[in-house]
Amino acid sequence: MYDFKITAADTATMYRDLASALEGLVAGESDSVANMANAAALIWETLPDVNWVGFYRNVGGELVVGPFQGRPACVRIAFGSGVCGVAAATRKVQRVDDVNAFDGHIACDSASASEIVVPLIRDGELIGVLDIDSPNNGRFSEEDEVGCVRLGEILARVL
Ligand code: SME
Repeated sequence: MYDFKITAADTATMYRDLASALEGLVAGESDSVANMANAAALIWETLPDVNWVGFYRNVGGELVVGPFQGRPACVRIAFGSGVCGVAAATRKVQRVDDVNAFDGHIACDSASASEIVVPLIRDGELIGVLDIDSPNNGRFSEEDEVGCVRLGEILARVL
């Protein structure tokens, strides 16, 4: 078992430490399920105030749930549907302060209040999305977005 304890004073440093821990964790491993599983566990352990961290994979043009931490989630999401589906269809990060105000939001866990979804793209191909939910409204700042995009870049290379 790896014991990463990331306790940084500020958000930017925390994401920098998280990114280097993630790079170390996936280095030299080409199995995408293993990398998604460890990445979900690392992010879950590190980020405060989150209730779901995980992946939806692009399986033939449909999002299918992958490794995650949190409550059991909906299995299949169509491109364009919900926050994850919009991130997949537009290939743009979705940072949603209030999921209840997001048209078409899919409530897998009624405790979720805000959410960030990062599309994972390699060589022009959408591999899937990284999805992080929080029980707090407006949990994810612009700094969180920058940090999560960095995590997505590391992950896209190894999934
Ligand atoms: N809320 C997401 C669905 C996935 S769960 O949050 C794990 C959405 O609207 O796409």
